[in-house]
Amino acid sequence: MSSTGTAAAAATAAAPGADALQHRFEQVVESEQRIEPRDWMPDGYRATLIRQIAQHAHSEIIGMQPEGNWLTRAPSLRRKAILLAKVQDEAGHGLYLYSAAETLGVDRAELTEKLISGRQKYSSIFNYPTLTFADVGVIGWLVDGAAICNQVPLCRCSYGPYARAMVRICKEESFHQRQGYELLMTLSRGTESQRRMLQDAVDRWWWPSLMMFGPPDADSPNTAQSMAWRIKRHTNDELRQRFVDMTVPQAERLGVTLPDPDLEWNEERGHHDFGEPDWEELGRVIRGQGPCNAERIDRRRSAHQEGAWVREAAAAHAAKQASRARTTPSAGGAA
Ligand SMILES: [Fe+2]
Ligand SMILES: [Fe+2]
Repeated sequence: MSSTGTAAAAATAAAPGADALQHRFEQVVESEQRIEPRDWMPDGYRATLIRQIAQHAHSEIIGMQPEGNWLTRAPSLRRKAILLAKVQDEAGHGLYLYSAAETLGVDRAELTEKLISGRQKYSSIFNYPTLTFADVGVIGWLVDGAAICNQVPLCRCSYGPYARAMVRICKEESFHQRQGYELLMTLSRGTESQRRMLQDAVDRWWWPSLMMFGPPDADSPNTAQSMAWRIKRHTNDELRQRFVDMTVPQAERLGVTLPDPDLEWNEERGHHDFGEPDWEELGRVIRGQGPCNAERIDRRRSAHQEGAWVREAAAAHAAKQASRARTTPSAGGAA
């Protein structure tokens, strides 16, 4: 129970003016308490959260596709069971996050519509293809690893429903990262061609993973406001640095080379120096010109269309239950 809920209570008791509401909101945020759905919040705060949570939810759902492509081709029953569990977790993450977004007054159907019509984004990383089974391991290690760096600070986000959803999501992301690393460890102890497959996957995913933290701080104009609202806790460049520092020793243990000639330990800074990602490539992928953008959205759109009968059946069932509860009030709720 981190929330006070008092901003909403104060609003109804004394009907304070806009300044008082703003002040109360700032106090809650600054004292590390949580803003809850019924509390007053600035329009910009609400809009920023809706955009961020929706984009996050879309990323979880679209993110099922690159790995889902390997479910029928997993090399063993054990690998298939692990991958199936992981992909199902991502569906669950999407659902928690759509629910968190709904507490801000939007509807999940509306968000899905915005995704499939290209009006809302998802993480650019999922627009790259998965060419071999080593990609499944590298996605777990690097992509879920980067997601953990991004998401652990969100467990302390000022908006309660988002922060609470992230606690469980982060626990599952740790499992994803470990399953990926374990798969890659197995490959690294395998044959020469398995080690080549591992290195090739690392070469293809390294730079897109660094881009997951977004543009450099100088080109990220919304960061300062998000940090003031305590939605975001660290800048893009800080998180990227943390990810590189965390990943380099893991790469050494795997015996792979990270494809960056500028990557080296800087004793003075106490961090690794590293090269500049290709920001033009990120721009192209965000604009829809990545290798798999069209394929991902087509797949999502057709899944949505094919699922229409399920949504209709569920809505009809809910309406029937509700009308039964109205006509026989004493029996209502027994189901
Ligand atoms: Fe996830
Ligand atoms: Fe994950």
